Amino acid sequence: MTRASILLVDDEEGILKTLGRALREEGHEVVAVTRAREAERIMAARSFDLLVVDNRMPERTGLEMIRDLGAGTPETERPEVVMMTAHATIESAIEAMKLGAFDYLQKPFEVDELLVVARRALEHQRLRTQHRYLLSERDEEFNHYGIVGRSRAIQELIRKLELVAQSKSTVLVTGETGTGKELAARAIHDRSAQRQMPLIKVNCAAIPETLLESELFGHVKGAFTGAITGKKGKFVLADGGTIFLDEIGTMSPALQAKLLRVLQEREVEPLGSEQTLQVDVRVIAATNRDLRRMVTEGTFQEDLFYRLSVIPIQIPPLRERREDIPALVEHFVRKHQQRTGKRIDQVSDDALVALHAYDWPGNVRELENTIERAVVLATTPLIGPGQIQMLGASAQAPSGLPSLNLRQNVEWAEKETMRRALERGGGVKKEAAELMGISQRALSYYLAKYRIE
Ligand SMILES: Nc1ncnc2c1ncn2[C@@H]1O[C@H](COP(=O)(O)OP(=O)(O)OP(=O)(O)O)[C@@H](O)[C@H]1O
Ligand SMILES: [Mg+2]
Repeated sequence: MTRASILLVDDEEGILKTLGRALREEGHEVVAVTRAREAERIMAARSFDLLVVDNRMPERTGLEMIRDLGAGTPETERPEVVMMTAHATIESAIEAMKLGAFDYLQKPFEVDELLVVARRALEHQRLRTQHRYLLSERDEEFNHYGIVGRSRAIQELIRKLELVAQSKSTVLVTGETGTGKELAARAIHDRSAQRQMPLIKVNCAAIPETLLESELFGHVKGAFTGAITGKKGKFVLADGGTIFLDEIGTMSPALQAKLLRVLQEREVEPLGSEQTLQVDVRVIAATNRDLRRMVTEGTFQEDLFYRLSVIPIQIPPLRERREDIPALVEHFVRKHQQRTGKRIDQVSDDALVALHAYDWPGNVRELENTIERAVVLATTPLIGPGQIQMLGASAQAPSGLPSLNLRQNVEWAEKETMRRALERGGGVKKEAAELMGISQRALSYYLAKYRIE
């Protein structure tokens, strides 16, 4: 079970204590308040995964709170709700469910009952988020597989990808980090006749050299110490489909030679095996290095280079196609407001000017991160220059980050933004808050959340 945030509201202190302790022991972050009004104030400032609320309270009933929540909060920001009712008033419980509550608990109940219900509610919430995310991903597919841009370079790229998709030729995609190499590789596969077959990605830089060979070509039982079972290689798994060899420039010379043989013979030899296996796989390789130069320097095999670059696709850096920036900004604003449930009507001219002027060493990925941060930090439907914070290439997400989930990504970005704003503001909170265009209260909340001193 992942850690969730839970808001507990009940006018009886004793109940709050017992339930709060149990939920914290499950590893959750719990905020417990006795007053409905206070709960509403907190919810206006931040979101929770789950709200557990008593119905009968002096200021407002739980039902009233649930009703307002439904009316005033975007769906994506709404927590799951579990209502507690003391007096067997089943009607109010039913009413709560009609208003979208996930479940109710009739007092008195055992702590364990709450834990079970909470677990189910959080699972439900997770599925809801995932579902929404998948829907937004699917929308992207209809739109050139998410490749956005009006520049000649991008329009030509899209045309080229369509053509390449119809062949089974080997493709070499080059470009700086974050220019969309992986996006291009996926677009080719998704438009090819083999799209129902697997697309298997191997990040050559992420796998230790000693393991990469068996990862690619497989091994038989006993091939080396520790090989207690055989293993299929990625080439075999991709049979009939596409293998995407990312960061090909980091491959060792010995492995380069083996890969060259596979490309020539179209067969692989698992480690420790006497037999070769025929494979029918399209190869797409990608690199942000200058392979031609590596060839002259003797660190990349010339033959392999020519085998790979049957069809070369070069994606220019964003700073050389700045006319793509407005469309990309619009695309990412839409994407991230959908995910965060915020409403953004406009990006101000000043902000666009700043986005246009910057050099984007991290290219489209850096632009996307910048917009995601702006959407998260926005307190009004207008994104102004105050919300635009470029971190520069040096603050690129650590290499493990893309595999983290959205929440972790957002948390990383928030934390990094806070840290930098504080640094720039000379450690003065008021300055930092102004730099980011958020209230000091919001800043304090984030500082507490990430335990930043
Ligand atoms: N033209 C584009 N339109 C929309 N999104 C894009 C475009 N180009 C890149 N992106 C987005 O930017 C991010 C980075 O792209 P991608 O992972 O394909 O880059 P890359 O070239 O493989 O980078 P790296 O070399 O660091 O692996 C992705 O989220 C991708 O969807
Ligand atoms: Mg990549």
